[in-house]
This record gives sequence, C-alpha cells and structure tokens, in this order.
Amino acid sequence: MRALPIALAATLMLLVTSSPARSDDPVTSAVRFNREIVRIFDRKCLACHAPGGIAMSLATYRDVRPWARAIREEIVEQRMPPWSAARGYARFKDDIALTPRELGTILTWVDGGVPRGDESDLPASVPRPAPGAEPDHLVAVPAQQVPGNQEDVVRRVVVTTALTADQWIRQVQIRPGDRRILRAAFVSVIAEGHEPVWAGAWTPWQTEVSPPSTGAFLVRRGSRLSIELHYRGQDAPTVDNTVIALFSARENQPRELTSLTVGSDDASRSKAATLQKTQAALTHEALVWGIRTELMVDGTSLEVTARKPDGTIEVLLWIPQTRTEWPSPYIFQDPVRLPAGTVITLEASGRNENGGRGARGVRAILTLHRLD
Ligand code: HEC
Repeated sequence: MRALPIALAATLMLLVTSSPARSDDPVTSAVRFNREIVRIFDRKCLACHAPGGIAMSLATYRDVRPWARAIREEIVEQRMPPWSAARGYARFKDDIALTPRELGTILTWVDGGVPRGDESDLPASVPRPAPGAEPDHLVAVPAQQVPGNQEDVVRRVVVTTALTADQWIRQVQIRPGDRRILRAAFVSVIAEGHEPVWAGAWTPWQTEVSPPSTGAFLVRRGSRLSIELHYRGQDAPTVDNTVIALFSARENQPRELTSLTVGSDDASRSKAATLQKTQAALTHEALVWGIRTELMVDGTSLEVTARKPDGTIEVLLWIPQTRTEWPSPYIFQDPVRLPAGTVITLEASGRNENGGRGARGVRAILTLHRLD
C-alpha cells in the first residue's frame, strides 16, 4: 500500500537521526505550557473546555497532556476553535479564531515535546468581574429536555413578555441554565404588524452582547420573544432552564434598532450545487451592529456584501465553509455605517444535502438603526 514506503523512510530517518537513550518526547521547544500555552487556551479555548463547560477540560497541564496530538489536528484543520468567519474583512468582537502567531506557538509546543514549565510562570488567577446591574424584566424560557447522546438539538420557543407598556430595551441578555449543553442561543422580538428584530445572542465565548448605546429595541406591549436554542446533549438526558434578562434603556430618545433580512426561506430544490443570490436595499443611512446567519446546510460558503451608491463594495462577512452546529453572532468591532441606497447582497453556494427535503434556505439578518 501507499503508506508503506513513507513509514519505511520515516523509520530509516529515525535510525539515522535519533540517539538511542531518548524518551518518547524529547523537549526541543522553548514554549512552555505554564507560560505561553495556558494564556492562549484561556483566551481561545476555556470558554468551552473548562470544568462545567460543554467540552472536556483543557484548564491544567494534566488535563491537556493526553490531548496534545488531538489539539494539533483540531487546530491545523481549523475545527477548533469553532469560528467560521474569514479574517481580513470587517473585524468582529469576540473573534475566537487563533491568530497565525497563536497557532504557530501551539504547534511549536506540541512538536517540541509538550513541555510543562515552572509553576511560577502560571498567570495569577484573574478576579471575577463584579456582578452587573439588575435586569428590569426576567422572562423564563420553558424547561427544555435535551436527550442524551444527541450532538445537535435545535429548539425554537416563543414566549410572551408580560410587558404592560411599550419599553425601550438596551440589552437582551441570555442566561443559560446549563452551560454543559448550550452551544448557542438567539432571541428575536416579534410584534404584530412589525418585522421580527434580532436582539440578543449567546455562545459560550460571547456571553454578553449589546448593541451600540445610541440604539435600543422597542419592545411593544404584547410583544413576544422568539428564542432559538442549540444544544449538545450529554451522555444522560439533561434539562435546561434558560432565562432572558431585559435591561431598560437609559437614554431618553434612543434610535430604534430594527433588522434587515436578506435571503430566502426556500433553498433550491435541486440536489446539485446551488447558488443563491439575494439582495435588499437600505432606504436610510444606517449603523449596522451585527449579522447572524440562519442556514440548514453544512459546507456552504456564504458572503454578505454591501454595495454603496458610489459603487464601492464592502465585504461584511465571508464564511468559506459553514458549520451548522456552531452558529455565532458576528458583532462588528466598530458598527458599520452605510449610506442610504446601499444594496446588501447575500450569496451562498454549495451542496444542498437535504435535496429540498425540509431545507429552509439561507438567510442573513442584520440589526441596525437609522442615522438620519
Ligand atoms: C465554543 C466552544 C469551543 C471552543 C472555544 C473550543 N472548543 Fe474544542 N471542542 C468543543 C466541543 C463541544 C468539543 C467536542 C466535540 C466532539 O466531541 O464531537 C471539542 C473538542 C475538542 C477536541 C477533541 C477532538 C477529538 O478528538 O475528540 C480538541 C482536541 C479540542 N476541542 C481542542 C480545542 C482547543 C485547543 C481549543 C482552543 C484553541 C478549543 N478546542 C476551543 C468546543 C470548543
């Protein structure tokens, strides 16, 4: 078979280069777990890989050591951390992808024999941030039973807000019931006669997202909240009790945040490669807070662009390969200002594995407020 000559060559190389009395993993790297690696993992992995999190702990050297080879593979294949947006276009808050430098440091460390380093190099533990302000309203999501051994469970729940008057809300915060199973959650405000507004999101590494302080969500009396929950089941069945916290706006005259949806409900019915191109135009100058996508197909590429009236094109989001199990909000580092007449285009291409059976197509939802 093909692998044989390579294996042979490797054995020969080993015979030539390795000295006889070495341990399995000779240390040839200056990178140390307790110095560089622990700090990278803290920023990029521990939101999920910590005790009580959604995946096995990578918090200590002892936890990490058996996973060294697997870590190499996951990061080289860019499966971990699970962030899909390509770099080099708009910048996002909480972009959890490894930088080329972080990637290089981890690879040097794994290939250099996984050295631990000195206890004295460990970072001092960071004090927990003080609890924030008390929310003005709490909305309980009905308990969700998540069966065991289910990788990807998606629930959509609609709840009433019980608000007795219209309210300006500056932040819609999602408080997960069980961080061992919640992958992602999104909240939209729905009111009769109005377009739904995407208003809140949660992922293990983006636990608080809030729009620019110049805007707020108008939650009308009688509005309901539509909540989308993505779970990863544990071995045993689990119950999740997530709560939505609403914080009232402090400003008197906030600008109303609304959502613009580009895309279609109905994916192409054909099994072959599909290409979707849909557009929407801005009728007013606007400040865009973030984008979220809704898609039913893995492996699709997806691009959201803005063509301004002067002809320039700005790429707002490019996902070379979508992963339905890790949805994320994409919150702009600096909200994007777009003039009236800008055309937002969503283009998605790839295989539609569902072949139309229950496929719901691809959508991008932008939340923004008017500037004029
Ligand atoms: C948003 C959550 C999240 C983040 C952030 C994350 N992971 Fe993971 N990771 C997971 C989950 C969930 C699994 C379990 C996947 C499975 O078992 O199918 C996993 C699995 C793994 C695995 C095991 C794959 C295998 O062989 O079973 C490794 C190794 C890994 N992650 C490394 C990392 C490293 C290193 C980082 C940071 C650079 C990281 N992950 C960041 C959620 C995350």
